[in-house]
Formats: sequence, C-alpha cells, structure tokens
Amino acid sequence: MTEDFRFWADEHQKRIENFMMRFLKEESSNSLIHEVCSHGSLNGGKRFRALLCYAIGEISKTDKLILDYIASSIEFIHAYSLIHDDLPAMDNDDLRRGKPTCHIKFNEAQAILAGDGLQSLAFHILSLPSFLIDDQKKLKLINSLSNTIGINGMVKGQSLDIENTLKIGEIKGLEKLQELKTGLLFNFIGSATYLVSDNPSEIINIKITNLCSLLGKVYQITDDILDYESNDKVLGKTSGKDRKDNKLTYVSLLGINEAKKINSKYFDDIKEIINSISGNTIFLNELILKIYQRVH
Ligand code: IPE
Ligand code: IPE
Ligand code: MG
Ligand code: MG
Ligand code: MG
Repeated sequence: MTEDFRFWADEHQKRIENFMMRFLKEESSNSLIHEVCSHGSLNGGKRFRALLCYAIGEISKTDKLILDYIASSIEFIHAYSLIHDDLPAMDNDDLRRGKPTCHIKFNEAQAILAGDGLQSLAFHILSLPSFLIDDQKKLKLINSLSNTIGINGMVKGQSLDIENTLKIGEIKGLEKLQELKTGLLFNFIGSATYLVSDNPSEIINIKITNLCSLLGKVYQITDDILDYESNDKVLGKTSGKDRKDNKLTYVSLLGINEAKKINSKYFDDIKEIINSISGNTIFLNELILKIYQRVH
C-alpha cells in the first residue's frame, strides 16, 4: 500500500464518518433510538462501499460534495442490513465490528427499529434539497436503490439465505443468492456514481459496471472464506458461523481451495478491467487490492 493511498483512504474515511454523524445528529439527536442507530452505523465499519464511491469518482473527477450523499446513503443501508442480519430471527449474532450487536447492547425491538430508521434515513438523504443534482437524477437514484435493496434485490437474497434450502451442486443458485444479498449494492455504487458524474463516458460506465459486479462476488466469497479461516478477534464478528448454521457458501459447496481459486480468478478479471480504464484509477486499483486482501 502506498503512502498516498493510505492518506487518501484515511481522509475519505473520516470524511464519510463526519458526514454520516452530522445526519444522525440532525435526524434524531438525544434519544435512545439515536444511540442505537449510532451504535449500529458509526461503530467502526471498514467503509469500503463509501471508499469505492470516492475511488470511482476520482476517474471522472466527480464533485465530492455530491458523492458524500450517495456514499452515506449506501453506508446507512449497509448498516441497517447488518443490524437486521444479526437479529436472533436471522443469523443470531452477538458480535459485530468488535462490539456487541445492537440487539445485545440494547434490545431486539430497538435493533429492529434502528434498522428501519437507518433505511429511511438513506432515502431521506437522497431526496434532500442540499443534494445538488437535478430532480430527475434524484428520482432515478431513489428508484434504483429501492430496487437494489427491495423484494427483488437484497431482501430477496437475505430471504433465500435464511431459508437455506439450496442443495449441494446448486452453484448457479448460490451465485444468484450472493448477487442479490451483497452484489446488487455494489452494482448500485457503480451506476449511481456514474449517474452523478460530471463528464460521463459510456465506455467507462460499462467497465465500472462489470467491475462492481465482479467486486460484489469477491466481497461475499471473501466473507465466506474469512468466516471459515479467521477468528472472532480478528474478524470482529463470530467466526465459523456459516458452518455452524449449515449455510451454503462457496466454501461449503466447493471447499476452501476451490473457493479461493474462484475468488482469485474474479480478482484477475477485475484487474484486467482496471488496467483498461483511462483516467485516474490509482486509488481504485489500491482499494480493490485492499478489499481482496482484507483480513476482516
Ligand atoms: C459484511 O460487510 C457483510 C457482507 C455483505 C459481506 P463488511 O465486511 O463490509 O462490513 P463492515 O461494514 O466493514 O463492518
Ligand atoms: C450479510 O451476509 C449480507 C447482508 C447483510 C445483506 P452475511 O450474513 O454473510 O454477513 P456477516 O458474515 O454476518 O457479516
Ligand atoms: Mg446473513
Ligand atoms: Mg450474518
Ligand atoms: Mg458472512
């Protein structure tokens, strides 16, 4: 990792955290639900999704004051999805980002409400007058995000994951499930960042779309590999949970070596795409390597 990238990543991580903090304070100030929402969203996530927005934005020099709105709405959606994913009725996890999950620290009802609140906050942010893009574009973003996370998107993926009825051999089914529960939000990052770009290029857009789609796959396969190989302390969440719950993942379906091989093939495809993009891809390149090599 270069010094420049480290500096860039730190700077943008702080930027998005401050931006998110401002919204949470504005929205609910001193209340229990404010505390639960803060615990669930400002509790030390890696912010890779937000960083991906900014890194893609660097290619066409998109205004960061615009990207802040997209990046924060994505991080709030992601935080909501994790709070609900950890609930006893879902994955039943008590550790997240190295801290007790929302329903453990507070209670189940407050955790459900915090998820609901963060989801609506994400859409609220995209509809704000201070988000300076034209209304048609706002509408497109809101429409696309609602599809991404709705009953034909992330929620459907989570439903299939919880149902856990896929059988060994159903690789296509698993691919689809992971695309829905994790991949589509990465696709949204690509399309949303393109939509608000100052000087959009159709060729770059197609490449970024393909890149984000592959990155979504790498993201969830890596998560499955880490669940298998890592430990609670490093992960900041309960390891070995997928095996315990008999979840069908790339690791359980194909074995750890094959899962790593597929992941590395997808990563090579991503690198090939990046190398073919003209413009400033320095930060995107390093970010993607960091995502691929992450240990938690
Ligand atoms: C975990 O996401 C859940 C998945 C979709 C794989 P992250 O690993 O990005 O979680 P945080 O935001 O850094 O905690
Ligand atoms: C979570 O997948 C996906 C979403 C929250 C949409 P996982 O259940 O594998 O994520 P972790 O391992 O709990 O972070
Ligand atoms: Mg889950
Ligand atoms: Mg989970
Ligand atoms: Mg997991």
